[in-house]
Amino acid sequence: MANSNRPTSNIANVYRGTFVHSTQQTALQILEDELLGVDTDGKIAFIERGAELDRLSRTFGFSPTEVTQLAQHEFFMPGLVDTHIHAPQYSYIGTALDMPLLQWLDTYTFPVESNFKDLKFAHSVYSKVVKRTLRNGTTTACYFATIHTDASLLLGQIANDFGQRALVGKVCMDRNDSVKHYKETNQESQEETCRFIAELLNKKYPLVRPVVTPRFALSCTAALLGQLGTIAKDNNLHIQSHISENKEEIKLVLELFPESESYTDVYLKHNLLTDKTVMAHGCHLSDEELVLFRKTGASLSHCPNSNISLCSGMLDVRNVLKHKVKLGLGTDVAGGYSASMLDAVRRTLDTSKVLTIQNPEYDTLNFEEVFRLATLGGSQALSLDGQTGNFEVGKDFDALRVNVAAPGGPIDLVQCKEPKILLEKFLNLGDDRNIVEVFVAGRKVVPFAEPTTE
Ligand code: GUN
Ligand code: FE
Repeated sequence: MANSNRPTSNIANVYRGTFVHSTQQTALQILEDELLGVDTDGKIAFIERGAELDRLSRTFGFSPTEVTQLAQHEFFMPGLVDTHIHAPQYSYIGTALDMPLLQWLDTYTFPVESNFKDLKFAHSVYSKVVKRTLRNGTTTACYFATIHTDASLLLGQIANDFGQRALVGKVCMDRNDSVKHYKETNQESQEETCRFIAELLNKKYPLVRPVVTPRFALSCTAALLGQLGTIAKDNNLHIQSHISENKEEIKLVLELFPESESYTDVYLKHNLLTDKTVMAHGCHLSDEELVLFRKTGASLSHCPNSNISLCSGMLDVRNVLKHKVKLGLGTDVAGGYSASMLDAVRRTLDTSKVLTIQNPEYDTLNFEEVFRLATLGGSQALSLDGQTGNFEVGKDFDALRVNVAAPGGPIDLVQCKEPKILLEKFLNLGDDRNIVEVFVAGRKVVPFAEPTTE
């Protein structure tokens, strides 16, 4: 029985040490000797100065001896948010990057994705991608699956079981002239999307939600785009797709939708640009199109590894930010060859520097800004910033415990460094070995609770 003299605590864990995160006002806020309490629902109950320990322990009813103290080279940062990743393409990650987008889709992607009708194969690949991304520190992922409803539901189940926050989309495509067996009829696409949404919502997974997913304008008829816009609106759902990735794609979209003024206008006309929409790439969007993004509240997912690997283009992130369009980062596996959001951070910085080489006047992104894009920016891009993205009271505790000097890790610290330097080193040099623990909604999901037998 609980001791009746002591307030019954709803605090599950308290951590003391350095916390780094972003806010609306500052790209990098560093909080040293801070105390963060996580309640039994996995939410941040308080984040305050370490000197307040006695008061906090009385108010929240925990014992100061239960506080977990971080070590010298450790800090907590928010979990990484991957705003765009294709789960089935994890099966061929790190290969097949020798063609531009449309040929790459026809030659590699569509034939591989058509195999995900096989639930055993889907289970094997989807378990691997969820585990790998969690291990890499991705606490939230926005996934494309394939056209197969049951396999897409399985991805939702696997994300839930491993404890990853996820948006999961059954891909919709009623147009595909190149790989004829990998497409749906218009009716199938609509009906299966509705079944997918209903069955996924019915599972009541706390961290997993459906996202309406027209693959891109080239693989959908105008009728399907309009129907998906209506389904998203009627159910108040997220939407994801691709836009303006490569010049040949844009040309074909404008030919296919001659009544539209731009690629963005195609989605706008079909009610697919909302404040819960995330569009991948956008490398070649005009300023007028960015204004439409801003007006509708739709966001962009910047996928720099893929943009370079498929020779698609280079997104001018500074210009997107100037237009006040929400932007997060994505790995875009397997157009991007890395499933790690640390790679997305590095490629974002690289791309910004290449733009600076081309134009020395360019306002290069700094690592603090890119850190924000990978965390809070991603959560805003996915309209999940009410739940995750930084360390604010009331949000879920989605966090990485980072040890920059982890034994066996890739970083040799020469001197004891201040937190800002530790973060910069981690972002530029770190890997899984520096991520000692991963939490989603307060639950420790890495190291994995389950034996990793596969
Ligand atoms: N456009 C349509 N489908 C895809 C895809 O699977 N990957 C990328 N990078 N672009 C796309
Ligand atoms: Fe993609």
